[in-house]
Amino acid sequence: MPAQTLTDRLFDDADKGALDPFALFEEWFALAGESEPNDPHAMALATVDNTGMPDVRMVLLNQRDRRGFCWFTNFESAKGVQLLASRKAAVVFHWKSIRRQIRMRGPVEIVSDSEADAYFATRSRGSQIGAHASRQSRPLASRAELTERAESLDRSLGADPVTRPAHWSGFRLLPVAMEFWKDGAFRLHDRVQFTRDTPDGAWTRRRLNP
Ligand SMILES: Cc1cc2nc3c(=O)[nH]c(=O)nc-3n(C[C@H](O)[C@H](O)[C@H](O)COP(=O)(O)O)c2cc1C
Repeated sequence: MPAQTLTDRLFDDADKGALDPFALFEEWFALAGESEPNDPHAMALATVDNTGMPDVRMVLLNQRDRRGFCWFTNFESAKGVQLLASRKAAVVFHWKSIRRQIRMRGPVEIVSDSEADAYFATRSRGSQIGAHASRQSRPLASRAELTERAESLDRSLGADPVTRPAHWSGFRLLPVAMEFWKDGAFRLHDRVQFTRDTPDGAWTRRRLNP
């Protein structure tokens, strides 16, 4: 008999044992990585602006650990400004190849400078220069203007290493809710939600109607 997966346990209503949603995330993420044509780490990031109007866009999950889930971006972008003001976000992964989604929400924190520096250093030189050249989310007169800015930066840096721009760093979502959704026949999908009052609290789980 094949070994029981965490997912088997998740959807077994008789199983009342503790389950770790971070470990479940790893199980689903690994599965998605085997079958998604590209970017299994792409997730939709939802924010609100200062009028309460929602906003959403894709970002890449770049780091994760027991604290939470990180993405990197321009802090002067629309999302950067919104997150710095609200300090809250929601994300959703949808992996079409396995017909599953994971959503989570909670407060966000800014990653440490050393974490941001370390991640920036792993990026290609072109992407590092791009982070300097792009005034993300602000109007741009032409593609040529952006290309010229990047080329001029590249020339002025010569062989020097590219340091992380002050406006470029990462956010970490500290989930207080995580929901695991798996496609079922006749739209009778499986949904299990984990919630906790604070990012260091204990998780409670319950099955939800689809
Ligand atoms: C698959 C995918 C991954 C993306 N990853 C990122 C990312 O990690 N960071 C980022 O700033 N923008 C990323 N983008 C671009 C954003 O979706 C968005 O266009 C940009 O960040 C500006 O968003 P804003 O104006 O809401 O701030 C990605 C786009 C796609 C389609």
